[in-house]
Amino acid sequence: MFDTMTVTKAAGAFIGALLFLMLMKWAASGIFHVGASGHGAEGEGHAQAYTIPVPETAEAGAPADEGPDFATVMASADAAAGEKVFAKCKACHKLDGSDGVGPHLNGVVGRPVASIGGFSYSDGMKAHVADAPDWTPEALEHFLLNPKAAAPGTKMTFNGLPKVEERANLIAYLETQQ
Ligand code: HEC
Repeated sequence: MFDTMTVTKAAGAFIGALLFLMLMKWAASGIFHVGASGHGAEGEGHAQAYTIPVPETAEAGAPADEGPDFATVMASADAAAGEKVFAKCKACHKLDGSDGVGPHLNGVVGRPVASIGGFSYSDGMKAHVADAPDWTPEALEHFLLNPKAAAPGTKMTFNGLPKVEERANLIAYLETQQ
């Protein structure tokens, strides 16, 4: 029934098909494997390549972490908003030229520090003259952030204004009060 030729052909075809399938499987897994490990390795490579610059960028951008700088905020400060911030100062400071618990603050921007005659300044505030002779916007900004740290020994019992926008708006408002 089967001559050798037929058996050989059938076996050849079968083995050929098997070989072809195995080859395809090998090629497919080979491509997949190479692709996967290749991407994995590239991915790690990229992850590292990108991980290194990220902290560097963060360090380079460190000034940004401190928030916008005062000059920038001051340039667009809102005096009307500053009037509301002044509510925190009203208990002790007037704007009509008369002194209360604290000296009057009309005309304070640009005024020499501790210069209101008749007001009894603390030694701490008198000493602050050496650090900042005049209440420039910058000197006020520094003082209002943390009065006790800026002028050690001051008798102004106020914790300070942590928000740079509040300080800038308030100073813009005080500039309008001459
Ligand atoms: C609890 C009362 C109190 C509050 C609230 C207060 N201050 Fe004062 N402030 C004082 C006193 C008292 C002094 C005098 C400090 C000294 O001699 O050490 C002073 C001094 C000052 C000075 C220095 C004036 C000068 O003539 O040299 C400035 C500026 C100032 N205050 C701004 C402010 C601002 C702005 C606020 C609101 C954000 C404020 N203070 C809130 C009591 C207060």
